[in-house]
Amino acid sequence: MKAAADVSQVAARSPSGQTAAGRLRVRAMTAADLPAVDAIEQDVQPFPWRSGQFAGALDAGYLAWIFTGADPTAPVGYAVLVGVLDEWELLTFAMARSHQGQGLGGEALDILLAHIRGQGGRCLFLEVASANAPALRLYRSRGFRTVGQRRAYYRHADGRTDDAWVIRCDLVPGDSEQDSR
Ligand SMILES: CC(C)(COP(=O)(O)OP(=O)(O)OC[C@H]1O[C@@H](n2cnc3c(N)ncnc32)[C@H](O)[C@@H]1OP(=O)(O)O)[C@@H](O)C(=O)NCCC(=O)NCCS
Repeated sequence: MKAAADVSQVAARSPSGQTAAGRLRVRAMTAADLPAVDAIEQDVQPFPWRSGQFAGALDAGYLAWIFTGADPTAPVGYAVLVGVLDEWELLTFAMARSHQGQGLGGEALDILLAHIRGQGGRCLFLEVASANAPALRLYRSRGFRTVGQRRAYYRHADGRTDDAWVIRCDLVPGDSEQDSR
């Protein structure tokens, strides 16, 4: 995923609530969350955002959410999105390593998709490294399909590169069929 361009985004209400499954709570990210968010990002992301990019996202008014368990002060995951008209982009999304592989990433993504639908959004797209199997498996399970490829988009410290796939989830029935005509 990449840092967002400076675009005027759709205003989005801040959430405050708990998922139907009752395991995740969701709320708006604040400046107080930034150290914890940055620590998770540096730990789990193959190509992490730099410190400061989250603060920039808050300043820009992007939709930035924190997922927690019972303790609302302890982030276990987060997402930053931007919406332009009815198209949304997921700029960064992660679950803490200690909370991965338990279905929570799926719950969090379902919350995001439901919110976007509620805002009248037609699609959510994102870039993901082609080697990021867990993320791809999650996104595919929610109906994302590949719509583009950016060769050698991600560069590892040792010089190796990964392609980025641009993947998209259409939220309005019929949209993906129209694309493939
Ligand atoms: C991607 C991520 C958010 C998924 O969160 P999660 O809580 O582990 O996801 P879930 O437990 O809901 O699992 C979702 C799917 O991924 C699969 N999965 C989880 N960990 C996996 C692993 N290490 N290898 C392969 N598949 C894995 C699960 O089996 C599940 O698929 P299934 O429902 O078919 O069984 C999390 O792995 C993460 O934060 N990764 C690092 C950051 C990242 O890559 N973010 C996305 C960038 S685009």
